[in-house]
Amino acid sequence: MSLPPNSPPRRAADILALGFGAAAAIAATLFLFGLPPGRAPSWAPLGCLLGWMAAGGWAAGRWTDRGWKGGLLVGCLAAALNLVLLGSLAGGAKPNDLSRQGLALAGALTIAGVALAAAGGARGSRRRAMRPASIDWTGVFALVAAAATFCLLAIGGAVTSANAGLAVVDWPNTFGHNMFLYPFAQMTGGVFYEHAHRLFGSLVGLTTLTLAYHLRRVERRAWVKRLSLAAIVLVIAQGTLGGLRVTGRFTLSASPRDMAPSLVLAAAHGIVGQVFFATLAVIALLALTVAVRAWALYGDQPIVQRFGKALIALTAAQLLLGIGALIVTGNPALNNPPTRVEMVVATAHQSVGAALLAVAAAHAAWGRRLLAAQAFQPAPLKAAGLDS
Ligand code: HEM
Repeated sequence: MSLPPNSPPRRAADILALGFGAAAAIAATLFLFGLPPGRAPSWAPLGCLLGWMAAGGWAAGRWTDRGWKGGLLVGCLAAALNLVLLGSLAGGAKPNDLSRQGLALAGALTIAGVALAAAGGARGSRRRAMRPASIDWTGVFALVAAAATFCLLAIGGAVTSANAGLAVVDWPNTFGHNMFLYPFAQMTGGVFYEHAHRLFGSLVGLTTLTLAYHLRRVERRAWVKRLSLAAIVLVIAQGTLGGLRVTGRFTLSASPRDMAPSLVLAAAHGIVGQVFFATLAVIALLALTVAVRAWALYGDQPIVQRFGKALIALTAAQLLLGIGALIVTGNPALNNPPTRVEMVVATAHQSVGAALLAVAAAHAAWGRRLLAAQAFQPAPLKAAGLDS
């Protein structure tokens, strides 16, 4: 992904893309490690966390011209975002308690992660890519936001597939704990899915807010700025719908008797989640068009063909997964609690559905762009194939 001439200045987009990318990769990896059955030993996820920090720093050294300082900045940003997750180590058994041991571990992981990211930056800069300044980091950042949202949708699907929608009784607290300090040791069964979904949702919310702020500073096209504002409205609405699906009303009570869970809001939450993802996919595509425009306008439109192929492949996969989901979840004998196969097939069906919608939205946005380009293109471009 390279920048065309006269592009806006990068304004920290490289650090944002890599820092948020590392944090999202860490969150997704920790979620996978925490999946039952048989949770992985704690050193494995923590080792992966440090590995992703080093990798983020290394990427900054390799693909930016910032050297080890780039790695350090990426490490600091990712470490700050990791606090959304590491608070689970610091939280004590009771609400408002803190675990000294957990705090020390979280602090040590933060310092080690930042140091490894800086070292990774130094290492990556030894073999720096040829033209690091030409990468469109705003486009990469938008892709990171869309990819993180895709993971969140998959985790949301897992919440539903595991029948874990009401595993945590309250919101925005978790069983009376501040949700960012709810101890990892208590995240078992359905609570793990539901709570992990909330934490991942917070990370996606932060990513969306930062992306929108960044786009307001660097983006020239008014409609892209408007779309990024729409993404903010959607992510806030989505978080609120998710919470109200559980509680039914705004309350800090942790008693199930005070709650009025709503299936209607659960459905609304599922729908708005897909719309939000499609919005981010379109933002990422428009970031991308800036990058590919230079060559795309002068040739055929392979991207359109690729979208077409992706739509066909995703539709076929979705049909198969739909049939699979019907078979594995349709047997009453298999119900309650859902088996691992049921959960994987149903979650995959939801995730591919989301990907299908996003590719279709991106395809439509690209088509609109093409039509606009055709209306204004000079004759040589028409001769190059855009008028067909
Ligand atoms: C911020 C972005 C969020 C996105 C994009 C998102 C997306 C999703 C998706 C796609 C599902 C699956 C829906 C389905 O099965 O059709 C889901 C389920 C769920 N989400 Fe979220 N979610 C977000 C935030 C939240 C938050 C903050 C909460 C707070 C409690 C929450 C609570 C839930 C619950 C309880 C379910 C299960 C619903 C059920 O099956 O009963 N979500 N989410």
